[in-house]
Amino acid sequence: MTTDVIILAAGAGTRMQSDLPKVLHPLAGKPLLQHILDSIRELHIPSPIIIDGHGSKSLRAALPDPRLRWIHQAEQAGTAHAVLQALPQLQKHQRALILYGDAPLIHTKTLQRLLDTTPTDAVGFITAHVPNPAGFGRIMRNAQQHVTRIVEEKDATDIERAITEINAGIYVIPVNHLQRWLPIIKNHNAQQEYYLPDILPLAIAEKIAIHTVQPVHYQEILGINTRSQLAQLERFYQLQQAEKWMAAGITLLDPARFDVRGDVVIERDSVMDINVILEGTVRIGKRCQIGAGCILRNVTLADDCEIRPYSHIDGAMIGAHAIIGPFARIRPETTLAEKTHIGNFVEVKNSKINVGSKVNHLSYVGDSEIGLGVNVGAGTITANYDGVRKNKTCIQDHASIGSNVVLVAPLTVHAGATIGAGSVITRDAPAGRLTVARARQQSIEGWIKAKE
Ligand code: UD1
Ligand code: CA
Repeated sequence: MTTDVIILAAGAGTRMQSDLPKVLHPLAGKPLLQHILDSIRELHIPSPIIIDGHGSKSLRAALPDPRLRWIHQAEQAGTAHAVLQALPQLQKHQRALILYGDAPLIHTKTLQRLLDTTPTDAVGFITAHVPNPAGFGRIMRNAQQHVTRIVEEKDATDIERAITEINAGIYVIPVNHLQRWLPIIKNHNAQQEYYLPDILPLAIAEKIAIHTVQPVHYQEILGINTRSQLAQLERFYQLQQAEKWMAAGITLLDPARFDVRGDVVIERDSVMDINVILEGTVRIGKRCQIGAGCILRNVTLADDCEIRPYSHIDGAMIGAHAIIGPFARIRPETTLAEKTHIGNFVEVKNSKINVGSKVNHLSYVGDSEIGLGVNVGAGTITANYDGVRKNKTCIQDHASIGSNVVLVAPLTVHAGATIGAGSVITRDAPAGRLTVARARQQSIEGWIKAKE
């Protein structure tokens, strides 16, 4: 039996106090709704249905994936009403897996277990025991522990409210049952909404089995209604990432101050000091040392790199044994070969720096190609932009650039050349020679200081 997915995301998200639709708020750098789409990817469901309402324009623009089927729910009359909107898209012989766009951390494995263990004719859904059940629908069970119904917080008595087993809002339901049940659900309740959980008494009346599944961690099923809940789930997610990497042989000086916002691979015996943020696609080799406050975004580090504190690296490939920072900024399209050194207050952009070369202090290197064993002195910059074009600077092998040099591109400093400190170099410098381009120092004979 094939499964279709319906994700409910029409709610206003009023308590977020935001102009951005709730399901587009990022958790670990990714929209809540994208988390759901990623966790169902491995279930191989061809084209998920998303029920949208509030902010549907920005929602659809933010997720342009053509496989998504969007259905607009003009008025949010309740979760059963939301699923009803999708009914015309569903096939009788299928099951519908129903999820919420604002509950981002559900694991693929838990969903797989729900699908695998629910008999094909039964209704399955996820429940959890939570420390604070306020706001959730409570699970009512009879003496045999069979589910009888779900009572929403607003409809619950004090005794019912004391129940800590709650409804996650994630269901698998045969479509032919939905076709019978959804049209007859009433909105006779405190919120005057059509409640999806009201299918349960209908299932029981037809003697259709009800099956429940529990997640490993209850946080998997928590939804987000407020920014405070968003922050709590962010921390839960990050702690899980931290545990995962520690288990894989990475030292984190403080797992509470380690953030992953993307797709990361870290090899064993690398060490992260506090407040490291990894974003996008990050690959870190063995025995790398990442200093406090470093931000690495779309970076590949080979083995044994040392990234000193407060460095910001974005879009770079970095060779083994490189030393970078503290306070370095590496910008996109940069390749640093093995054993390169980039020091404090150095910015490198769209450049290749070859093995063993050093740019250690207060420099800007942009649109450049630097050969082997080059030394770039303190305060030297490439003037790569003439106001119209970006021009290239080449510094060939073993050249030595003095301090405070301006290299006005396009320009080549040939192999083994030395450039005198304070030079403004506007033409190619020949190989192996000293090139100096600055006013000569002179001391004026017979000069007399003016008297007052
Ligand atoms: C719902 C469940 C409750 C469960 C809780 C888990 C109902 C009646 N109650 O309560 O048992 O414990 O989720 O989080 O189902 N939505 C629509 N269209 C609508 C109404 C809702 O798309 O007309 C979407 C919302 O955007 C949201 C989700 O459905 O993503 C849940 O709706 P919400 O109103 O927040 O339900 P809860 O009161 O949290
Ligand atoms: Ca909710």
